[in-house]
Amino acid sequence: MLELKQVKKTYQSNLGKVEALRDISLKIQDGEFIAVMGKSGCGKSTLLNVIGCMDTYDGGEYRIEGKSAEALNRKSRALLRREKFGFIFQAFYLLPECSVFRNVALPLKYRKVSRKQHRDIVMPLLEGLGIAELEKRMPHELSGGEQQRVAIARSLVNDPKILLADEPTGNLDNENSEAVIELLARVRETLHKTLILVTHDVKIASYADRIVEMRDGQIL
Ligand SMILES: Nc1ncnc2c1ncn2[C@@H]1O[C@H](COP(=O)(O)OP(=O)(O)O)[C@@H](O)[C@H]1O
Ligand SMILES: [Mg+2]
Repeated sequence: MLELKQVKKTYQSNLGKVEALRDISLKIQDGEFIAVMGKSGCGKSTLLNVIGCMDTYDGGEYRIEGKSAEALNRKSRALLRREKFGFIFQAFYLLPECSVFRNVALPLKYRKVSRKQHRDIVMPLLEGLGIAELEKRMPHELSGGEQQRVAIARSLVNDPKILLADEPTGNLDNENSEAVIELLARVRETLHKTLILVTHDVKIASYADRIVEMRDGQIL
């Protein structure tokens, strides 16, 4: 489904060049669950951002379902990103002034989905994730674990094939971390998603089919 061949990414900052990705080669099959591990600063988020078309790369090749991501302009990249990928972050990134329902429905606004259909799409999703009763709550009225479950619902609302989760349990205690990883594993299984998840936690990584370990911008 996804193939990276010697992908490179260098950041220019006023402190000089940072080679965040150095010759990354990786194949990911449809439906696979991969955990990416490695020390802070080794390039995990950069890798996820390149995979999810949130960021460009500057060497090598990246193909999504056989199609090169290189020639894409900004607009095509944004379209591909919206169609294929769902994102889940450590910091949840819910809009504080919007209810749970509106947060989850938000990505539908950017597609031609009528307002009337929003409910029919969002409610079954909330029910499936066990958070339907939180529909009218505001983000500040939720625990961290609940906020992350809402963010997972939002990542699924456009029915992407691939879920990218950057340290999704990084802000959660053990109990909530376990609930969130079990939910993600179940979502991946029942909805047939490909899941790529960054984590520092060996226990979380043990849910994956395969662990990719990174060091200094490379895969070990
Ligand atoms: N926008 C940026 N500008 C300059 N350097 C960056 C930028 N983003 C990340 N980096 C650098 O790239 C390297 C990899 O970062 P990152 O992918 O965030 O690592 P990780 O997620 O594994 O902690 C780090 O050295 C980081 O400082
Ligand atoms: Mg990171």
